[in-house]
Amino acid sequence: MNPVDAKSAVDPRNKLNELNNRDWMMETKSVWFCRPPQRDNLKAQHPATFAESDIVRLIEFFTKSEGKVLDPFLGSGSTLVACAQTGRNGVGIELVDQWAEIAIQRTQGEPNSAGAQLRVLKGDARECLKQMPDEDFDFIVTSPPYWSILRKDWDHKVKAERKSRGLQTRYSDQDDDLGNLESYDEFLGELGVVFEQCRRVLGMGRYMCVVVSDFRHGSKFIAYHSDICRVMESAGFTLEGITVLVQDSKNLYPYGLPFAFVSNIHHQYILTFRKRQP
Ligand SMILES: C[S@@+](CC[C@H](N)C(=O)[O-])C[C@H]1O[C@@H](n2cnc3c(N)ncnc32)[C@H](O)[C@@H]1O
Repeated sequence: MNPVDAKSAVDPRNKLNELNNRDWMMETKSVWFCRPPQRDNLKAQHPATFAESDIVRLIEFFTKSEGKVLDPFLGSGSTLVACAQTGRNGVGIELVDQWAEIAIQRTQGEPNSAGAQLRVLKGDARECLKQMPDEDFDFIVTSPPYWSILRKDWDHKVKAERKSRGLQTRYSDQDDDLGNLESYDEFLGELGVVFEQCRRVLGMGRYMCVVVSDFRHGSKFIAYHSDICRVMESAGFTLEGITVLVQDSKNLYPYGLPFAFVSNIHHQYILTFRKRQP
């Protein structure tokens, strides 16, 4: 095979996805540029969503057609919308009724020509995951709550703008909402419980991506992505790579100006982990 054919061919040894060699290589670049997310009226009600277009790329890299995908913190249902768009089967868990209902409506409103099976489970991920069989999923992708920043430290300008549009600025008042835990250590401990179950329900050799950004708590900068890496490794996953997801379309604010450096956080991380043999 000449080098040009080699790039446009799907390697017969490729058991992971249906990408040709060129597309496979492109997706392993450690920087992605996030397209400005399309927010329909339903999705816009949720305070912290990710863009389907990025999740589509991850699903197409980490599964073949008809693969089975899990999101244990489903929110407005973006992962299931991406499953419908790629013909993958998907299961999402969401604690808060309001978001689960929005996820159901968004999923049902999506053209699903490949007949993907899509299920929204309402409940606490810590409990729902326990009911699932071992090694049932080909890929897991999620964005967990960012501790309690929506309650305490969320950017006041963004918060004020959402309030003025009558949109919610937090997930819920529920005690079992991980975003309402007071202590950061306790929060990370409970995330660990979810991640251990995720490892159990994921097939051997398969991947899990966690999409997060860092944040500030008062004057303290919290490197959330590195804490997630630690918790995932304690849950038995190995870190395989970090992709920086550039969010160039966000507004710039003069946070520390003119007294101190305060970062405008304009990127997220896609943290990619694998379930390897112990
Ligand atoms: C960052 S959001 C996910 C947003 C989602 N990626 C989207 O695009 O809409 C995290 C979600 O986790 C949910 N959540 C919090 N605690 C939970 C729990 N114990 N079990 C399941 N879901 C939970 C919150 O209600 C919130 O919708």
